[in-house]
Amino acid sequence: VVRANVQPEELVYRRRFVVDPDQLQVFFLASDGQEWPEIDRVLAHSFTWITAHAGEELVGFANVAWDGGVHFFLLDPKVHPSLRHRGIGARLVREAVAACEGHGEWVHVDAQQPLMQDFYVEACGFVPTPAGLIHLT
Ligand SMILES: CC(C)(COP(=O)(O)OP(=O)(O)OC[C@H]1O[C@@H](n2cnc3c(N)ncnc32)[C@H](O)[C@@H]1OP(=O)(O)O)[C@@H](O)C(=O)NCCC(=O)NCCS
Repeated sequence: VVRANVQPEELVYRRRFVVDPDQLQVFFLASDGQEWPEIDRVLAHSFTWITAHAGEELVGFANVAWDGGVHFFLLDPKVHPSLRHRGIGARLVREAVAACEGHGEWVHVDAQQPLMQDFYVEACGFVPTPAGLIHLT
């Protein structure tokens, strides 16, 4: 159970940390409302991923996909619902961007409004650009 009184100095951010599979699914269920059975396949293709830990508890996650060249794509930042609006999401994104620095040219992201403006642009420093999307399903 994630305590709501976790202090910022208790949080540890890690790169490519292999989380216990059951703990990972419990976290996805809590933060997203659903489990993510394909996560191993997804992470096998990742440039990196960032996890946030409060003691033994997993409280945050962000994934960075990569084209093998100069493009990175930030995906699926998630923070445990008990700990949102304390800057953990923005810190996860900063850690993800820092992991990419020196390895390529661009970190892409997409999201709907107001998440794009309020979170990615204002809290995380992304520059808004025109982008395109085709829904395959
Ligand atoms: C999006 C998410 C990762 C943000 O995590 P967080 O730790 O709450 O983020 P921060 O505390 O760093 O937020 C900083 C600012 O970004 C903005 N922001 C955060 N979450 C937002 C949201 N869901 N919608 C719009 N703006 C948001 C706010 O302005 C916030 O400042 P405030 O706390 O003073 O309101 C978290 O809400 C989450 O896990 N959501 C469910 C999964 C999800 O939708 N992920 C994004 C996929 S594209």
